[in-house]
Amino acid sequence: MSGATNSVAYHLDPLSSQLFGLVARPRPIPEPGPDQVLVRVRAASLNRRDLMLMDGTYPVPTAPGVVPLSDGVGEVVGVGANVTRVAVGDRVTSTYFLHWIDGPQRLSLVREQFGANHDGWLAEHLLMHQDSAVRVPEHLTDAEAASLPCAGLVAWSALARPLPVEPGATVVTVGTGTVALSAVQFARIHGARVISVTSSPEKAQRLQELGADETVDRTEVPDWERVVLDLTDGEGAEHIVDAVGLETLPKSIAAGAYNAQVTLIGAFPGGEPVTDPFAGRYLSIRRIAVGSRTDFEAMNRAIVAHGTRPVVDRVFGFDEAADAYRYFRDGRPFGKVVIQR
Ligand SMILES: NC(=O)c1ccc[n+]([C@@H]2O[C@H](COP(=O)([O-])OP(=O)(O)OC[C@H]3O[C@@H](n4cnc5c(N)ncnc54)[C@H](OP(=O)(O)O)[C@@H]3O)[C@@H](O)[C@H]2O)c1
Repeated sequence: MSGATNSVAYHLDPLSSQLFGLVARPRPIPEPGPDQVLVRVRAASLNRRDLMLMDGTYPVPTAPGVVPLSDGVGEVVGVGANVTRVAVGDRVTSTYFLHWIDGPQRLSLVREQFGANHDGWLAEHLLMHQDSAVRVPEHLTDAEAASLPCAGLVAWSALARPLPVEPGATVVTVGTGTVALSAVQFARIHGARVISVTSSPEKAQRLQELGADETVDRTEVPDWERVVLDLTDGEGAEHIVDAVGLETLPKSIAAGAYNAQVTLIGAFPGGEPVTDPFAGRYLSIRRIAVGSRTDFEAMNRAIVAHGTRPVVDRVFGFDEAADAYRYFRDGRPFGKVVIQR
């Protein structure tokens, strides 16, 4: 198979006149090196960071001509001589960061990311080091399995680390992005009570179907933190998964109980610094980035045990990649936008 030119990949070329700078080019199918795994891609999915990488607002610069997308799934079709973690025929995805295998996050471990400065999943084939390979739960469709590495794992990390959410604890999720949707599912896996903040009755209904116990419509009640306090007899919630950013941080803090954990996942745009964000409350804030391979594998075990399925909004064909990006940007999806071969 080496040297064949029948494998197509999309490359990010900001100077191209193609929509979103996505240029499809044939390239030779690579031959795996001794520690590498060659994957035939079946599906890939979009995250907010994939739009940020295009407009230059992502903290990691995009490598020129990189193949985008951190999330995908495929079948192993070739392995190098030293590969033991996976075998030909396995269905795998990749870690988000190439080098964060286990333990706490370190700057040196998160510099290299698929679809940013290392070729990602918007291709017919992907080559990765065996350390990046993660088997996906069997009960998931390809579209669902392609939804796990970024938004799924960061939601898991928010609720399982450093201490797992305790049964009966109250978890607040903010929004209906894919991080928040996964957080609702994982909070329920932990046996938590879930209060979800959203912006319409339709989304509230869908959040309840997904597992939210209570919903607050922030367009009707902008002071949603007060509703959280009312629903918790004035105590506040033990966990707040804030997947929006500094804009919602003061409300997330105000919704927190003493000793609550507020987990900041949303990107930080520039702007005015927040003054006195704690407002006298006694709680912890941490900012997290996705998770390690060990976290990913723990999440997958929980997904298998509970039969959890990521929420998929819409699936596009491989030759409709630009349409998928446009729908993801403009179509207000509820769940993942997937590109499938
Ligand atoms: N740190 C990490 O490892 C990591 C990983 C993945 C994503 N992220 C970041 O996390 C953020 C969320 O990403 P995502 O893909 O899940 O979601 P998203 O597509 O960015 O959507 C965010 C949702 O938040 C809600 N929202 C927006 N503004 C709000 C406000 N002012 N107050 C309350 N809710 C508001 C909206 O939902 P409703 O209409 O339902 O209110 C919106 O759909 C992004 O910034 C993304 O870059 C970080």
